[in-house]
Amino acid sequence: MDIKKIAIKIVAKVEIFLDALLFRVPSRTALLGIDISSSAIKLVELYSKPEGGYEVTAYAVAPLPEGAVRDHEILVEASVSNAITALVQQSGSTCSDVAVAVAGSSVLNTIISVPAGLTPLEMESRVQTDVEPMLPFELENTCLDFIILGQNPTLLDELLIQVVACPEQEIELRKLVVQGAGLDLRVVDVESFALGRAYDLLVGDTKKEDGKAHAVIDIGASQITFAVVSEKSIIYSTETAFGGKQLTEEIQQHYNLSWADAGRAKRKGGLADDYAEVMLEPFKYSLIKHIDKALKIFYSSSESTEISKLVLSGGVSKLNGLAEDLSSALSIPAEIGDVLKHLSINDSVDMYSFADDGPAMMLALGLALSESK
Ligand SMILES: Nc1ncnc2c1ncn2[C@@H]1O[C@H](COP(=O)(O)OP(=O)(O)OP(=O)(O)O)[C@@H](O)[C@H]1O
Ligand SMILES: [Mg+2]
Repeated sequence: MDIKKIAIKIVAKVEIFLDALLFRVPSRTALLGIDISSSAIKLVELYSKPEGGYEVTAYAVAPLPEGAVRDHEILVEASVSNAITALVQQSGSTCSDVAVAVAGSSVLNTIISVPAGLTPLEMESRVQTDVEPMLPFELENTCLDFIILGQNPTLLDELLIQVVACPEQEIELRKLVVQGAGLDLRVVDVESFALGRAYDLLVGDTKKEDGKAHAVIDIGASQITFAVVSEKSIIYSTETAFGGKQLTEEIQQHYNLSWADAGRAKRKGGLADDYAEVMLEPFKYSLIKHIDKALKIFYSSSESTEISKLVLSGGVSKLNGLAEDLSSALSIPAEIGDVLKHLSINDSVDMYSFADDGPAMMLALGLALSESK
């Protein structure tokens, strides 16, 4: 599956809706990648250089007001719109075309097998019939898209189809908050696909050994996104509701601190001597267990692919010694993804703060790399 292609396919519904508007913006040059995450809004604008490669031309991050977004659900539209407006101003970007993502329990992301030789209409109807029982929401209120991955290796007269679906309301909400900030929503992607794209274009080794793949693991405040990337494609992705928020909550309760102070102490240190033993190590242990489980589930569905490297992103990846601990617990080399590896930074952007925020910017970067038609 081509990562760029599926991003375009997934957004078909939004794109179709926006087709008429596209005539008003014939020379769109960049997409603003906006990650509406559980703890913050992160924004990146990338310029695709004529000689190849990308330059960060604008970027900004700001925490979201408490309760504005929970588990990928936008609860207070106005707060999110206002935060985006402020962030765009702060970043200095003049780009108005936006890519955002959907994720979490509202997104169905699955692979099904259907008979080869169906007409496009028959295929669409077959996909809908097969997927409907898996949907936790009504089919008629669903944005659904699919892409043909290729021949089913075990049933040769069938095709494997990657299907994604999410409630129309999720797309509508994102459209409203983006429009509320005076911008245009062009692309709605799935988080794990955008993450895989960022890895592939910005961080990944150009050459992977035959039959081997890398796992890109984004550990955020409330979610672990696990994507397996092989030769230029994502072959597996899953999400787990676990993240740095748990550790902040424990610190807050144990040491009787405010949320902000607990978060700061976690990042900068200064907690009592028992912190490492009582809180940090058990948190790391749970995190490693979650990642181990994701790996085992992947291997049970794809025995022939070996994961030769774990690449970490997300704010929690900066936890001291996490990559080393994962590496020794799971016997797979692990490292923090270096988003600066292939990116140049425009003079207008604070390089040091971008480098510091880099691991948490992977999704926004992947979104900025989306393609619109
Ligand atoms: N240096 C650090 N050490 C430990 N934890 C950190 C550090 N920096 C940030 N974090 C934690 O990382 C988390 C935020 O990461 P990130 O910005 O990737 O999350 P998010 O994208 O908002 O969340 P999600 O992807 O789950 O919606 C917070 O829990 C924060 O406390
Ligand atoms: Mg995130």
